[in-house]
Amino acid sequence: MAEAFIEARDLRKTYHVGKIEVQALRGISFSVQKGEFVSVVGPSGSGKSTLFYLLGGLTRADSGSVVLDGDDFATLSDAERTRKRKRKIGFVFQKFNLLPTLDARSNILIAQEILGNGHRDPAHFDRITGLLGLTKRLGHRPAELSGGEQQRVALARALINKPAIVLADEPTGNLDSKNSDVVLRMLRQSNQELGQTVLMITHNPEAARYGDRIIHMRDGEIVRPEDDPQWVAH
Ligand SMILES: Nc1ncnc2c1ncn2[C@@H]1O[C@H](COP(=O)(O)OP(=O)(O)OP(=O)(O)O)[C@@H](O)[C@H]1O
Ligand SMILES: [Mg+2]
Repeated sequence: MAEAFIEARDLRKTYHVGKIEVQALRGISFSVQKGEFVSVVGPSGSGKSTLFYLLGGLTRADSGSVVLDGDDFATLSDAERTRKRKRKIGFVFQKFNLLPTLDARSNILIAQEILGNGHRDPAHFDRITGLLGLTKRLGHRPAELSGGEQQRVALARALINKPAIVLADEPTGNLDSKNSDVVLRMLRQSNQELGQTVLMITHNPEAARYGDRIIHMRDGEIVRPEDDPQWVAH
């Protein structure tokens, strides 16, 4: 039987803002096999980014657990969780999260620096920046790049260490169809060539179809596709 690479077990998370409580996740459970490309879709506010942060070990759940490659995050110390996260996960954030003072090249390479010298692979750098059409933009800082280019830099940064899993939150959210296509094809290609597991959050049904399988979320829960009105409309 195929191996689960990342697993969510009854994840729950409530935000408190003054007296208002927002139950962002109300018990989410699923598993993704090694090498699978899974899309997560759902309307704005359904809890997708909250799930992304929990799966990536960037925030803690109120209850439930995340198991990544056999390690239950809840049982790891903060330092161990951070170490695993850096080694195993490539992140693409909804808002890019590029460092404004660094050019594109340094924004990509910083992910490698964090892991140390042993991980440098100039051929891989050239290949992914070439495939993402960034070769002529490597000396530009984020403010000197278009939104699409910034997102492609963010994707190159996520892929530079050949992570076992790529977590991408709306990687095509702010992109036109041409840029979206480049990003989605790159994710597909690294999934197929390197056997990387990909979990991509999107509200775009066309983007979601790049995945092998689609998880539908609504109001902090997983729902069946036929209970996802947004989806049925397409
Ligand atoms: N830091 C926070 N503090 C309080 N409430 C929050 C916080 N982050 C998210 N929420 C609330 O939790 C719910 C889920 O938010 P989340 O960002 O996970 O949704 P999403 O599905 O990613 O939406 P979008 O498609 O707009 O990115 C929303 O109702 C949101 O208002
Ligand atoms: Mg979001």
